[in-house]
Amino acid sequence: MSQRHFLNLTDAGGHAIAAMLNDAIDRKAARAGLPKGQPDADAPLAGRVLAMVFEKNSTRTRVSFDIAMRQLGGSALILDAGTTQLGRGETIADTARVLSRMADAIMLRTDDHAKVEELARYASVPVINGLTDLSHPCQIMADLLTVIEHGKALPGLEVAWLGDGNNVLNSIVEAAGLMKFNVRIGVPEGYESDAAMIEAAKLAGGGIRVVRDPIEAVRGADVVVTDTWISMGQSYAEAKLAAMEPYQVNDALMAHAKPDALFLHCLPAHRNEEVTDSVIDGPRSVVWDEAENRIHAQKSVLRWAFGQI
Ligand code: CP
Ligand code: NVA
Repeated sequence: MSQRHFLNLTDAGGHAIAAMLNDAIDRKAARAGLPKGQPDADAPLAGRVLAMVFEKNSTRTRVSFDIAMRQLGGSALILDAGTTQLGRGETIADTARVLSRMADAIMLRTDDHAKVEELARYASVPVINGLTDLSHPCQIMADLLTVIEHGKALPGLEVAWLGDGNNVLNSIVEAAGLMKFNVRIGVPEGYESDAAMIEAAKLAGGGIRVVRDPIEAVRGADVVVTDTWISMGQSYAEAKLAAMEPYQVNDALMAHAKPDALFLHCLPAHRNEEVTDSVIDGPRSVVWDEAENRIHAQKSVLRWAFGQI
């Protein structure tokens, strides 16, 4: 088997994603009630080390991967790129070669998606995308797990996205093609998501529609999702915030979704910008389950990367 990398959801494909989600559900249930740092009974990654490289800030990704590795019986180490030689100009290729000799897998959070691709090209161990400007596949694995846990099947699911056409949306679009669900994207003109990923998802069987009217985006939705209007690495822009304002997820907008619609947000949230307190703290919000599920979903991504799924 050639080296597995998880740079985008398509690297795994729909069958493997379904298998990973099933694995995550089973493993989460099997360790219910255990202290968070206690390894799973089978410790399937015993002795394995994950090296995580961060070129951007993170709370959830760094903690969830660390805890995921502990629960799988392995360990993780966190490298802040700015304090490594990468930050002083050592090449990604040489970094990939060295980390491949010292660790069993590498996770990278960075800006340019080409960097994670280059890391994977020169690494001889699995490489996992912990967020780039293009995509955030690990987040969407947790989102899919959360939706399923709350009783909704993926095929035919109606997802509404509101706000900026960003990395998180790109991975949702990709998932829609692989898992055959529909996404209505409510974005202002000029802030659309990656056109090539939309076309690929449509070809794969996802129903993707870009709409300008936020109510049309949300009408009858099973799941409503948003994210920050200004992503990491983007500069603050008044014009962008003004364009985003009609897409704020508030009670009035949520009233157009199905009565049992779920609200998702990858976090961190900018409360009362892209989402009001009343929605994120309200009865339809599942954002804390979604955050916890980063651990459970990534354990299965790791097991897949090591050829165990
Ligand atoms: N959702 C997410 O990736 O959070 P962090 O930026 O805190 O890792
Ligand atoms: N779109 C956000 C996601 C943060 C987890 C960003 O890239 O900053």
